[in-house]
Amino acid sequence: MNNRIQSILGVLAVAATSISMVAADKNSTPAYLDESLPMEQRIEDALSRMTLDEKIAMIHAQSKFSTPGCPRLGIPELWMSDGPHGVRMEIAWDEWDHAGWSNDYCTALPALTCLAATFNPDLAYEYGNTVGREARFRKKDMMLGPGVNIYRTPLSGRNFEYMGEDPYLSSVMVVPYIKGLQSNGVAACMKHFALNNQENERESINVEVGDRALNEIYLPAFKAGVEAGVWAVMGSYNKFRGTFCTHNDTLVNKILKGDWGFDGVFVTDWGSCHNTFEAAMNGLDLEMGSWTNGLSWGVSSAYDNYYMAEPLKAMVKTGEVPETVVDDKVRRILRLNFRTNMNRHRPYGALHAPEHLDVARRVASEGIVLLKNEKAKLPIRPGKFKRIAVIGDNATKKLSIGGGSSELKPKVEISPLEGLMEVYGDAVAYSMGYASGIADYSHEEPSPYDADSLRMAAVELARNSDVVVFIGGLNKNYKQDCEGGDRLSYDLPYDQNRLIDELIAANSNTVIVLTSGNAVAMPWLDKAPAIIQSWYNGSMGGVALADVISGAVNPSGKLPFTIAQRLEDYAAHSSDERTYPGVDGNVHYDEGVFIGYRWAEAKNIKPTFAFGHGLSYTDFAYSSLKADKKEYSPEDIIRLNITVKNTGHADGAETVQFYVGQSHPRVARPVKELKAFCKPYIKQGESTTCTVEIPASSLAYYNEDNKQWVLDNDEFTIFAASASDDIRQSISIKINNNLIALK
Ligand code: BGC
Repeated sequence: MNNRIQSILGVLAVAATSISMVAADKNSTPAYLDESLPMEQRIEDALSRMTLDEKIAMIHAQSKFSTPGCPRLGIPELWMSDGPHGVRMEIAWDEWDHAGWSNDYCTALPALTCLAATFNPDLAYEYGNTVGREARFRKKDMMLGPGVNIYRTPLSGRNFEYMGEDPYLSSVMVVPYIKGLQSNGVAACMKHFALNNQENERESINVEVGDRALNEIYLPAFKAGVEAGVWAVMGSYNKFRGTFCTHNDTLVNKILKGDWGFDGVFVTDWGSCHNTFEAAMNGLDLEMGSWTNGLSWGVSSAYDNYYMAEPLKAMVKTGEVPETVVDDKVRRILRLNFRTNMNRHRPYGALHAPEHLDVARRVASEGIVLLKNEKAKLPIRPGKFKRIAVIGDNATKKLSIGGGSSELKPKVEISPLEGLMEVYGDAVAYSMGYASGIADYSHEEPSPYDADSLRMAAVELARNSDVVVFIGGLNKNYKQDCEGGDRLSYDLPYDQNRLIDELIAANSNTVIVLTSGNAVAMPWLDKAPAIIQSWYNGSMGGVALADVISGAVNPSGKLPFTIAQRLEDYAAHSSDERTYPGVDGNVHYDEGVFIGYRWAEAKNIKPTFAFGHGLSYTDFAYSSLKADKKEYSPEDIIRLNITVKNTGHADGAETVQFYVGQSHPRVARPVKELKAFCKPYIKQGESTTCTVEIPASSLAYYNEDNKQWVLDNDEFTIFAASASDDIRQSISIKINNNLIALK
């Protein structure tokens, strides 16, 4: 029977049950429908009523983004959507095409690199809540996000969907996102577990990484999400130590479900399942998006042929896979149902509400990073200049579309040019400068424009203007900030470096704005007086940029990744192809825990802009860094206070970063690592005291030999910093640890 008809019959059956209940004794209510009973009891009851066919149907897709539930029992379908910075437009039932609806729009939130750059966990909650409200309104039960893979190489096409290079920052930001989203009765599906750190050969690349880097760098954000109670996790396409992550015993059974006690649903990435037995036994709960019947590509409506459909049923029947293994998967999916679409008390959500645009605007304006501001070129106060040249394709390009599965159809997307015109009115004149073609997931579309004419017209405008705001960077085209491929070069595309050189030569009053989710080389760095790192900032991106440029908002974003001078300055690119993009299908993370600023500091490499860097229109002075004690034992909390004074001429927020370094480590450790931060908003002339807490146990390292966290008896230095390369204060503390290994 067709799923839809089954579904209708199921709903009728439940309705009939409920009507007869009115007259009947309350005891006749099936336990799984009795809301007064504990969820686990309801799950067991529902499971006990299901046939093997019904169980098998629940653990694989019925369409590109849904599963059928159990119609006979009135267990609803589960509907999913990408993720992670808004609710994607509808996709057809069995095709990847857009459904073409006219009501499937959303508020586009800034991409996650921007959220990370805010260093503001409260905003991360509002962000998650906004996505959750829209998802709920759009009748989604699960959002495919957030993404917390670590930024290892600036070439990776999906860094813009993730939260940067630091595991602590990603962990602190992902928790409120998940809580905010799930407060709507919509599941977060944290992705991609694990080690999706490049898009090159993403569907087959095998990652070889040591246990220490795995535990210290690549897993903490996932662990934090699980501890925060995330309801679903998505496996990544790549392999880890020879086995696909989606059915990897170590990652899924041992770490995720074993060590961390994850009780939710472990889902494939779309098409990342490759083997029925392995998937069944190694912890996969739900198979989505397989391209194939297991033998060939592109079979349509092949859902019955999915690895976890008929082939798994056959294995259960022969006893090769015990039915209890399937039961565990169904139990988890039922738990997801009870947490989402069988929770009658979840809120109703809202779509494109004014408060959603407000959240989008605040995240964007708090995340924009002022990288450089010589001779106070910025802010550009309205009325100061007669002619402002706005130059660059990204000033007008719609950047919410493209990039792969995170594409969005925002109801509103205000471009930088529109935002600037709103503030500066007729003073603004625009020239494209360079052209980038169309955003397409799988190939590059050449631009029809003549590059020389565009550049020359822009330079001419620059020469005849008082100030130039160049808005360029990367975009969501294939092989830029886009899923399914990595960037081909660390340089800006479309000859932008030449254009920037010529603009600065024509007008020294030039502000460079880079929109991207990745670092780029800046050969014109010394010549550019002012540089802004902006992001894919969604619906209100143009307004937020104008807020920062005009000074209506004092910038407070900090870089969530290192911008190195050269590609070779990143650990992954410091040697040969073995460490990127891999040789013979294997990529080796030989650098271990030393990525990003950990690498730069260990190797004494000066970056263009360091992790945590970001300027303000005011200045902050740090004083009186104090710890509550001199010595701590492993179970203690280190309480730190610092006084921060706004000594400049504008109100503003400062992210005070606390890094910790061990004095005499027995194994090579990073010079220092981020362990806490606070972000006070301080009026000019005023001071505030910031308090943070660092669990002493978080200063441990992972010992590969005995596979345990170890906290040495040692002295540790705590640095209070405005950026990883701008330390303002430091103090030493001692850890007294008689027990060498930590649990
Ligand atoms: C992506 C996932 C996404 C899924 C569904 C995959 O190609 O890797 O992040 O959630 O498609 O669109």
